[in-house]
This record gives sequence, structure tokens and C-alpha cells, in this order.
Amino acid sequence: MVAEGRLWHTSPVPDTSLTTTDQSHTSTTGAPDVAAPSGLPHQWWRHAVIYQVYVRSFADSNGDGEGDLPGITARLPYLAELGVDALWLTPFYPSPLADGGYDVADYRDVDPRYGTLGDFDALVERAHRLGLRVVVDIVPNHTSSAHRWFQQALAAGPGSAERARYVFRDGQGPDGSAPPSDWHAVFGGSAWERTPDGQWYLHLFDPSQPDLDWGNSEVHEDFLATLRFWLDRGVDGFRIDVAHGLAKDLSEPLRSVAEDGEHLLSAIGGHNHPYWDRDEVHEIYREWRRVLDAYSPPRMACGEAWVHSPARRALYVRPDELHQAFNFDFLQASWTAESMRAAIVESLAASAQVGASTTWVLSNHDVMREATRYALPPGTDDVPWLRAEGAPPIDLELGTRRARAAALLMLALPGSAYVYQGEELGLPEVVDLPEDALQDPVWERSGHRERGRDGCRVPIPWSTEGPSYGFGTGGSWLPQPASWGGLSVAAQAASAGSCLALYREALGLRRRFGGDGELHWLAGFDPETTLAFRRETGLTCVVNFGPAPLVLPAGEVLLASDELAGGALPPDTAVWLAG
Ligand code: NOJ
Repeated sequence: MVAEGRLWHTSPVPDTSLTTTDQSHTSTTGAPDVAAPSGLPHQWWRHAVIYQVYVRSFADSNGDGEGDLPGITARLPYLAELGVDALWLTPFYPSPLADGGYDVADYRDVDPRYGTLGDFDALVERAHRLGLRVVVDIVPNHTSSAHRWFQQALAAGPGSAERARYVFRDGQGPDGSAPPSDWHAVFGGSAWERTPDGQWYLHLFDPSQPDLDWGNSEVHEDFLATLRFWLDRGVDGFRIDVAHGLAKDLSEPLRSVAEDGEHLLSAIGGHNHPYWDRDEVHEIYREWRRVLDAYSPPRMACGEAWVHSPARRALYVRPDELHQAFNFDFLQASWTAESMRAAIVESLAASAQVGASTTWVLSNHDVMREATRYALPPGTDDVPWLRAEGAPPIDLELGTRRARAAALLMLALPGSAYVYQGEELGLPEVVDLPEDALQDPVWERSGHRERGRDGCRVPIPWSTEGPSYGFGTGGSWLPQPASWGGLSVAAQAASAGSCLALYREALGLRRRFGGDGELHWLAGFDPETTLAFRRETGLTCVVNFGPAPLVLPAGEVLLASDELAGGALPPDTAVWLAG
């Protein structure tokens, strides 16, 4: 059973065409990147492994219980040794933290709790010296209500130029006391909030995150300035928050979304929803691409676009737009050969149509960690269910086994992989955080029905003991479970069969066998229970989703996600072979 209105879930609808009203555009850049053979240094993202650092939870250098930039800098050698190519930093900008920093009050500074601009420069410099690229998050759909623009808008009143940067409207009904439309917020409730003077403003997320109006040229100019600000400081790329939400159909009367029901993050039909995945959004990314291409070497951008099909996602990575878009179909695929194969085949086909490389994502700071997710009964994946009265205990050992196999599958695929901090440690979701510790706005906005995403944001354990398992010298802003010591970096670094050891070995081998080489499915395996493919680079990957051991194909075993039983591949296990 799937909980109604649960977060970050869309229903992918197979759609193999690139049907859109926006096909006529020709490249303004001459598309040099896509036409060129892969492997050129400036196309590093095409097969990079990018490690997501959730800044508040990675490493705390000053003992205040929250992670910070100097903490990350000190841990960069760990990432270099792990073997990733880049890190993506979640927002570290000044923010009231109503939504974990995705409520930005100033786009061109560092929140004092995370450090200073000088700390940021030091981080970039150290990362580059270690051969790691740095990607930062940009949040263009909405600002924080604490942003100076929004404060000016409230003060200036209806009809002002200050309000025109956001989406203000009069309400419906004789006294305007009903919201301007039935649009709903992702975090629950109406997407409209009333101001003291009676007007309403739009917020597709929390009321503290007012949506910007991308029909306003001032908004465009300001974000171009923000991009340049960070590019000039040396960043290698951007992750774009809610990339599919910026363009809105604000023509009057505002259209109803009644028929879209619980599909909160994307439109079912995909093409003409009033605010999700509208074709006009692509013009913004063409504008941004021109800025990215003006740097030498050109910089990259990856969009967070929750769209309804791989084909719609591919539109974001056309040659003159973004370089990458997160592949959430892979993340949402269930643990079956059929579901995983469909996500892989459709994603590769859609990306190939536009000459882009594919991304692969198993987890991030918004979804349940995969060690827990893969242990749930089919069709069930929400934390409220786990805490429901009478819910059967989940088999974490099974989930972890599958998560390890999924890692080898992901890292064997052509394209780029995103690894969320703690994934390499096999951390489970923390499902029993005390209610008074919960900070995700979802908890309050859902009337305490949805616990939200804090369970995947619990600070990283670095050592086997200590007040916050080495996260810092003090406590930690979310309580860590007692099992964290055994899952810590220190514990796993010392253990040959650990999840950390598996990731390290896999990432090392990927440097030899990765790259852009095509994937060929191998014949002779039962498609219901097995994924088996060979990369042109010489790597063969076989994953057993079935209940019985499989006979291994010929070839030298390079790595297995768990112990092999003689010449057989046990259930829920993946293997890499050479040849
Ligand atoms: C997507 C981010 O990943 C999520 O954490 C945030 O709450 C929303 N966008 C709103 O910015």
C-alpha cells in the first residue's frame, strides 16, 4: 500500500517519443560537447561519480552539532581515497533553515553556521588539488521569505514592482478570502498563503519559500549574476533545485489541477500542467548554458527534474541546455529485474536521442535510504508505514545485501553516478527519530501524518565511539542510533568485506573499466530473475534478483557484492567479471 500524498514520488508513464510543443529550437552553441568524442577533459561529467555532501550532516569542525565547510575540507582526503570524481554541496547559503537550506536568504554568501566565503574558497582549492571537482546547489524556484526581495515585496504592497518578482494574486470570493486557485504545496496544504494586506502569494513548497516569477526579467538577471558569482570562485558546476518548476502558466483564470490528484511533484500528462515541467522552462536553461559555456573549460549543470518519463527528462539535456538530469526512474525502480531493466533501457534510449550521457541515482537527501527501501514488502516505502501499529519488522540484512548489489549494478552502467553520503557505508534509514527531533517542514505541514525526510539526513558516523561518532566534538543536530559506531568509516575501513571496502574497490575498478563504452545485454539468462550485460570496456555485470543461485558466466571475477557460493551467484547479489 502506498501512502497518499507521499513525497518525491511520481508515476513514470512509458513514453518513448520526444513529443513536445518545443522541438523547433536549434542550438545556439553549436553543440560542441555532444558531438565531440567522450573522455575529453571538459566532459568529465559524462561518466563521473559525484558524491553528494549534505552539508549540515557531513562533518562538524567546531562542535556546534552541525556540519560545516571547514569540516568538509578536512574530510576531502576521504573522498579522494574513496575514488569519486566530484562532490555536490547542498545549500550552505544564509538561510533560516525552514527547509534544510533550500530556503535561501542570500544567494551569494555562506551561512555563518557553515563558515565564511573564505572557507568556501579554501574548500574549492583543496578539492581541486586533490583532483575533485566541486558542484554547488542553486535554488531558483523560490527564495526564503527572509530574502530581502520578499521582505521588500511585503512592504511595498499590491501592484508594486517589488511584488512582481514573486507571484502575488488577489483571492477569490467577494472578500478575497479564498485562495486564488486550487494549486497545492508539495509539503501539504494550499500553495497560497495570505499576507496581512489580504493578497496571496504562491509557494509550491513551504510558506517560507515564496515562488519567484520567472516571467520577470529582473529574476533572470539576478540568477545569471549568482551563477557567475560562484563560477568566478571556481565551481565546476551546479545542481539545479526543482528544475522543472520554474515556468508557470499564470494566465487568468488560473487553471485547476484537480485532475492531477496526489501527483505532487510532476504532471501526469506531462505537457501542459500549470506549473510542472512546462516547455517554457527550457528557455531558462538555454540562457544558463550560454553562461556555462563562456567559461574555460565550460562548466556543467545537472537538473533535479521530476518529470513523468525518460523522454520528458531528455528534453532538459538537449545540446544547448543542461548537461545532466537526475535519473529518478532508476531510484524508484523496485527490486526486480524487470523494473530495473525498464529504467535502464528507457533512460539510455532517451539520453542517446539527444546525445547526453545518463545519470544513475540510488538515493539522496529526499528519499528513504536504499538499505531500508529494498527491505520493504513490494509496493511499500514510506516511513509512516514502518511505524504503523502491527507493521512487520523489516529485514535490514536483506535490504543491505540488495543495496550492495544495486551499487555494483549502478557503477557498472554507462554514464554518471551520484552517490549520497553514507550510501557507501550502507547506512539504513533512521525510522525511529523522536518526534521532537523532527525538523523537516513536511512533519508540521502534514499535520504530523508524514514524518518527512530527516531519517536519511542523520549525521555521518566517522569513528566507532565519541559523542557523535566522530561527526564532531559535540553532539549532532539529529540523534544518531547506537548502531552508528559499527557502521562508521573507522569500523568499515578496517574490515575487508565492508560496504565501504566494496565501494572503494568498485570505484577503483570503474576507473579501469568505466567510461562511455556501450552496454550489450547478454543472452542465455532468465530475464525474469537476472540482469546481465557486458560493457565495451570489457566489464561484465550480472545481478541475480531471483530466489535461486545462478551459474556464473566465464570470466575472471573482479568483484562481487557478497560472497560467491563456489561457482554460483547467490540471490540478491551482483558480480563483475573481466572479459
Ligand atoms: C528539492 C530538494 O532536494 C528538497 O530537499 C527541497 O525540499 C525542495 N527541492 C524544495 O527546494
